[in-house]
Amino acid sequence: MAEAGRAEAGGLPDKITIEMTVNGRPVAMEADPWEALSYTLRTRLGLTGTKISCDVQACGACTVLVDGLPRSSCTYLAYEARGKDVLTVEGMETADGSLSPVQQAFIDQSGFQCGFCTPGMLLATHALLTSGDADDDDAVIEHMSGNLCRCTGYVPIVAAVLQARKAAAASRG
Ligand code: FES
Ligand code: FES
Repeated sequence: MAEAGRAEAGGLPDKITIEMTVNGRPVAMEADPWEALSYTLRTRLGLTGTKISCDVQACGACTVLVDGLPRSSCTYLAYEARGKDVLTVEGMETADGSLSPVQQAFIDQSGFQCGFCTPGMLLATHALLTSGDADDDDAVIEHMSGNLCRCTGYVPIVAAVLQARKAAAASRG
């Protein structure tokens, strides 16, 4: 009744039902209407691979894919993800449980140090390679420019993205 009263008064209900698919698994939960997707993933679903750094959509650490597109989950509301497919770093490994070519490339190229930016980097790279917009090196660097790293100096990250791009091209034949 309290929820109905608030709705009639033009306010927000205490909780709303959120249904979405996360890493291929349907999930449903009661959540706050103003809740950031990063909070939902980390706190309600235990998917702490999604990191929160700036919390104001400036660093890319919290990047997840929503229907295949990179989103800053610190400012993207869980409400907005209703009925959509969300991919986090926990869902990146392949069907047989091995690392994805993107994850392997970051290991091979030492594309991380503290690792805090890495989940966002991995998902941004995954989105880039599935978008088909990675034709030249400048496009790769431009695409990744929303993901900041305070440790690596970016050179090994770019090398990892280029390795992953090469692997993706080889797999297409
Ligand atoms: S934590 Fe979301 S963009 Fe920085
Ligand atoms: S590896 Fe530390 S912020 Fe990128």
